[in-house]
Amino acid sequence: MADQEKRDLVSIEDLSGAEILELFHHADEFRANLRAWSDLCRGAIMATLFFEPSTRTRLSFESSMLRLGGGVISAADEKNTSRSKGESLADTVRVVGGGYADILVVRHPEDGAARVAAQYARVPVVNGGDGAHEHPNKTLCDLYTLWKEKGRLEGLEVVLCGDLRYSRTIHSFCYALARFGANIVTMPYPGFELPDYVLHRLRRDYGVQAAAASVADLPGIAGSSNAAAYLTSSKPHQLALFTNLTNIEVNRIDAIYMTRAQRERHTGESTANYPRLSRTTLDAAAARDARVMHPLPRVDEIDYDVDDDPRSVYFRQAELGVPMRMALMAFLLGKIQLRAARPAFASVTRGIEAGAGLRCRNERCITNNEGVRYLAPDFRLREAEVPPVLSCAYCEREIEARFVGHGQSRVFHRYNAPEARRIKPENRVYFESEAQAQAAGFQPNAG
Ligand code: NCD
Repeated sequence: MADQEKRDLVSIEDLSGAEILELFHHADEFRANLRAWSDLCRGAIMATLFFEPSTRTRLSFESSMLRLGGGVISAADEKNTSRSKGESLADTVRVVGGGYADILVVRHPEDGAARVAAQYARVPVVNGGDGAHEHPNKTLCDLYTLWKEKGRLEGLEVVLCGDLRYSRTIHSFCYALARFGANIVTMPYPGFELPDYVLHRLRRDYGVQAAAASVADLPGIAGSSNAAAYLTSSKPHQLALFTNLTNIEVNRIDAIYMTRAQRERHTGESTANYPRLSRTTLDAAAARDARVMHPLPRVDEIDYDVDDDPRSVYFRQAELGVPMRMALMAFLLGKIQLRAARPAFASVTRGIEAGAGLRCRNERCITNNEGVRYLAPDFRLREAEVPPVLSCAYCEREIEARFVGHGQSRVFHRYNAPEARRIKPENRVYFESEAQAQAAGFQPNAG
């Protein structure tokens, strides 16, 4: 596969909505007889490079590939890889994608790692979870389950509960829900709300508006003091449903997606009184038709006696992961073609090389960890926002570009000064603060 043609799944946005729906139909076909496809990818090799623990994701990818007739090589424990000797992800994927394997599935603890892998590998890369950032292949499985359960995605009322801050499954899932026109109720464990960059992306790309919500009728997971937020896209078909977006009373829930506290990414935060879903929760009138979802592994966020309720679909999510991943693999390997158009990426972004001292503020970003050795900071600029916003091209974390310097005269201005606007785009150098501009050798505007 030539480099320019390769497709990666780094973010759920790398597939268009129509492509996702088409993949669901392929997954249905695979599922009808899982054992009937052992010629489709014969000869292809998938490598799973997992630098973080995994049971389901790795094994279901491996099972999918074996069912398609392909082969699997696996680095499943970082202690046994050269990462423990200091090898970079970039070098590992260049090696493994350079003749060892035809497709890579990568899981890594650092935010933005999947983009790095996709950038350096010659073969398609699937993000198997990169830090707290995204987990788009899991989202395909979750969406596929929900779509099968409910027959549609548009207009569904989906409650996201628990650690919304560090759950990468939640981040990819909420972008997809918004794209398909579902409404989202966030019910975070206090202090673990959706990060700002996720909310901004929802608002920017899908016109999602937030309102206060009350899910009064949901005992067990939402104590009465728990503030819920309602996120709805401003698409006309949904706006029509609500005349008043300031306080939404949620009376019907289609799915409750529970997540475990992502303790491996916490820095000592307390999770005492973390929400827990019980049979009582499911007794609520609003939950009558709800599906209970969880990416697994469960720790103790869902009582075991909820498992045999027909509305509990978390084991089904895991099971449907196999045909869904078969469809994804077959597509990325070029063994099935989709009729749907690929995503049209909005061209609002421009790469900004931040040579003059800008640094991503996310301490977990790969650019601040192993990438320090070889990655140049890279930002996307959104000039339409006030002040302009730069987001890290790897982990998406945002910083405000409050000062703009001239690359040649080395003079800097406030972003909204008339002189700043006169600097040609190719000469602009952005800074977060005056101190940063001065540290980079720029002088303040004398005027
Ligand atoms: C999730 C993950 O790794 O982010 N697990 C999975 O892929 N099934 C969720 C989690 O670990 O909580």
